[in-house]
Amino acid sequence: MQIEVKSGDPLKISTAALVVGVFEESERQPPWTVAVNRALGGAVAERLSAGDLRGKLGEIAVVAGRARGVAAERVVAVGLGKRAALDLERLRRATGRIVRWLDDGRTKEAVFLHHLASDRVADVEKVRATAEAAVLAGFRSPAFGEKRLANGGSLARITLLAPEAPRTEPALARAVRMGQVIAESANLARRLAELPGNQLPPRLLAEAALAVKKETRLQVTVYEEDWIRKRRMGALLGVAQGSVEPPRFIVLEHTPGRRPAQSGRRAPRRRAHIALVGKGVTFDTGGISLKPREDMERMKYDMSGAAAVLGALRAASILDLPLKVTGIIPTVENMPSGTAIKPGDVLLSMAGKSIEVVNTDAEGRLILADALAFATELEPDAIVDIATLTGACRIALGGAACGLMGNDPDLVEELQLAGEASGEAAWPLPLFSEYAEDITSEVADLKNSGGRSAGALTAGTFLRAFVGDRPWAHLDIAGPAWIDKDKDYLKPGSAGFGVRLFMRFLEARA
Ligand code: BES
Ligand code: MN
Ligand code: ZN
Repeated sequence: MQIEVKSGDPLKISTAALVVGVFEESERQPPWTVAVNRALGGAVAERLSAGDLRGKLGEIAVVAGRARGVAAERVVAVGLGKRAALDLERLRRATGRIVRWLDDGRTKEAVFLHHLASDRVADVEKVRATAEAAVLAGFRSPAFGEKRLANGGSLARITLLAPEAPRTEPALARAVRMGQVIAESANLARRLAELPGNQLPPRLLAEAALAVKKETRLQVTVYEEDWIRKRRMGALLGVAQGSVEPPRFIVLEHTPGRRPAQSGRRAPRRRAHIALVGKGVTFDTGGISLKPREDMERMKYDMSGAAAVLGALRAASILDLPLKVTGIIPTVENMPSGTAIKPGDVLLSMAGKSIEVVNTDAEGRLILADALAFATELEPDAIVDIATLTGACRIALGGAACGLMGNDPDLVEELQLAGEASGEAAWPLPLFSEYAEDITSEVADLKNSGGRSAGALTAGTFLRAFVGDRPWAHLDIAGPAWIDKDKDYLKPGSAGFGVRLFMRFLEARA
């Protein structure tokens, strides 16, 4: 989908559909809606007073076909809800609704005006959120068959009008590009998370990373088993040994291209370096501690953390963020078999810590233990891991937010703010020292499960043991990574959660 910002008179622009926003229960409609209404001889106001258009969030009504007064073939109103409630998330939802409605198999392009309605949000944020929502709403899951493509996929171009733009156009165009690239990267993450386990084993997740390398300037290295063994990643290998699918260890590096102007003789400013680590369990059966059969198919999304890291690195490279970012993806399939690890087995991790595996279904923290140790050796300024780590976190927060834990209050706060700004909420959870007792083992340095109580937090406490004193934070995305309810710009399925949050975080760090 092509999205552009354009200045110009909304009444004179020729398009298949001109989209205006209407508020619910408001005396004062958005200025551009008022202008279009006037040009249409009051057509919008008529619909509102007749009550067949109420302005409810996401409500859609055609207010005019070919009409005198406007060059557009159709004028379509989209409800924005109550004026005071209109924030970026509600703008995304209204945008998602109108994009899905317009994408009818015939309509090829449209012009938006509704995104300008709120007077409390900066224009750059409005166009970014609108571009983002449009691209996310255009997502087609890999299961979407060729046949059904005939019913959509026609909408190829959206123009975001910014009538006052000549002055601000470059800034708006940049914001649109940000939104578009980030949403496309989130869509990549969604596609990967929705692929069934047999179509995305670790080998093919690595291929997906190499495909991203081709379209970016990222340096991507895929390590195979011999290397993983040489690096003594015993915890990762332990999980991998139950599957016929070999593990992979993927490293992606973004190094900024454009040098910032350096003034005079001053020493060049040291660039920040952030490491992002994503859990890549391509399918989680639980292993010998087998999961119940109900809904086990959902566990194809247990590589959503890996997908988010891949998406964020893609976007960071294409947008050339001025900081160094390393993406680290340990990837395995967790299977029960004659070669699988058993409860009671002890693994030696790369960090030199031994781990008693009391539950083979707590496999995410095992592969992350080695990936975090690897990240720590790179000495980045901060490490952030992202994982569909615990059912407990999903129970605690549902889909509304991911769990956020860490050893550095400033980093945790930064991530919480990035979550707020991106629309992907991250909510802080505590790592009380008491939890460390729950994961002490009689036979090893640690055990991999603390049982049912405080499940998300004992998992976080386990991870903490592998980062030393490095600033580190952990995002448990078991809840929001997969949504069951339609969110208008995100349909049920993978949400690509984390890509947008990571990008806000990295932008702020850069
Ligand atoms: N991938 C799961 C976590 C999960 C469960 C995500 C349900 C989404 C929905 C993870 O590997 C896991 O199985 N965790 C266990 C940990 C327990 C054995 C300590 C869990 O949450 O039950
Ligand atoms: Mn598991
Ligand atoms: Zn898992």
